[in-house]
Amino acid sequence: MAEHKIGIIMNGVTGRMGSNQHLARSIAAIREQGGVDLGNGEFIMPDPILVGRNEEKLKKLAEDHRIERWSTDLESCLADSYNQIYFDSQTTVRRAESIQQAIQAGKHIYCEKPTATTMEESLELANQAKDAGIKNGVVQDKLFLPGLLKLKRVIDSGFLGEILSVRMEFGYWVFEGDWQEGQRPSWNYRKEDGGGIIVDMFPHWRYVLDNLFGEVQSVSCLGVTHIEERVDENGRAYKCTADDAAYATFELDGGIIVQANSSWAVRVNRDDLLTIQVDGKEGSAVAGLRDCKVQHRVNTPKPVWNPDIENPFNFEEQWDEVPANQLFDNAFKIQWEMFLKHIHQDDEFPWDLLEGAKGTQLSDLGLKSWEERCAVEVPKLHT
Ligand SMILES: NC(=O)c1ccc[n+]([C@@H]2O[C@H](COP(=O)([O-])OP(=O)(O)OC[C@H]3O[C@@H](n4cnc5c(N)ncnc54)[C@H](O)[C@@H]3O)[C@@H](O)[C@H]2O)c1
Repeated sequence: MAEHKIGIIMNGVTGRMGSNQHLARSIAAIREQGGVDLGNGEFIMPDPILVGRNEEKLKKLAEDHRIERWSTDLESCLADSYNQIYFDSQTTVRRAESIQQAIQAGKHIYCEKPTATTMEESLELANQAKDAGIKNGVVQDKLFLPGLLKLKRVIDSGFLGEILSVRMEFGYWVFEGDWQEGQRPSWNYRKEDGGGIIVDMFPHWRYVLDNLFGEVQSVSCLGVTHIEERVDENGRAYKCTADDAAYATFELDGGIIVQANSSWAVRVNRDDLLTIQVDGKEGSAVAGLRDCKVQHRVNTPKPVWNPDIENPFNFEEQWDEVPANQLFDNAFKIQWEMFLKHIHQDDEFPWDLLEGAKGTQLSDLGLKSWEERCAVEVPKLHT
């Protein structure tokens, strides 16, 4: 049984995304299952070196996941040719500089979104990677969620007919940190530290829309900071300088209209933290993180407006669940496995730094639309 080891520098792995999604649920899980199965009796075995500033945290994380290598010295990790991939899940403001360093060291790049805080910086990274001839990829995890994979299946089947519109509701209440601890890091609410829901979520909306429905052509966005003061990890009150909600409309290729509400100041009264409703001429679908339900035109009820009587419809019950019909793995792990195959045997991997830059482009233009209070065209992006 041939095993192909791939050395991966994992930077930012002590953070929320790094330790939960990328280490525990992806890399450690792949190691525990015996590697990425190539189907010919051969396996790719990721061999991470955990990188960060805090020795104690790294040591503990390494022990917890039975990983031998960890380091506080990024430069020496980059100098070691055994490490083929540089992975980054640091806070957004730190990412571009470290990726540039890794590109110069000849490493392949895989990283969290947003790839940088501005489009220029993101595009520069894509250009540098192209010039250096290294392979590169950006996390686009929502594409691999069970609910969105089911939705993609529904779209590909033709069930919806011509798609007219999409409504996306994303968000939940993020506690302010005073009487209950906030469930997201405090930098998310400070613009100067790379925070803001537009910078955070629009990169996701870009690849979801581009990949499922059609390329985004224009954006109209209103941002707002609903909660003006929060309390940080050390119990100190701070002023929120970044947007915590964004109310946007996108126009897509083919005339599809998308309304997307993103908010960390909303209480959930829907099936999931993200729901995507798609209305087509033939049928409709509503996808959440894991589930997807559909209603065909022949099953569509015929309500008549009459508030003088009790509502005779139970609208929720008039939808059919799309069955799983397969096992769904963790979304981050699926993409990691694809990237490792891309590195080892050149399998296709379209979600590169240019795609990442498109995400940052949409957040930049969302911010511009908000500032100028107008709809903004989204020009095509090239390396
Ligand atoms: N794909 C997704 O769904 C998703 C979800 C949330 C966050 N993210 C992105 O992932 C990234 C990390 O977010 P998070 O929520 O894990 O943040 P976090 O604050 O929990 O983790 C940040 C990491 O960066 C490191 N770091 C911070 N400042 C540093 C410094 N000065 N020097 C060296 N290292 C430093 C921290 O030690 C930690 O390891 C962000 O870019 C965020 O936008 C992606």
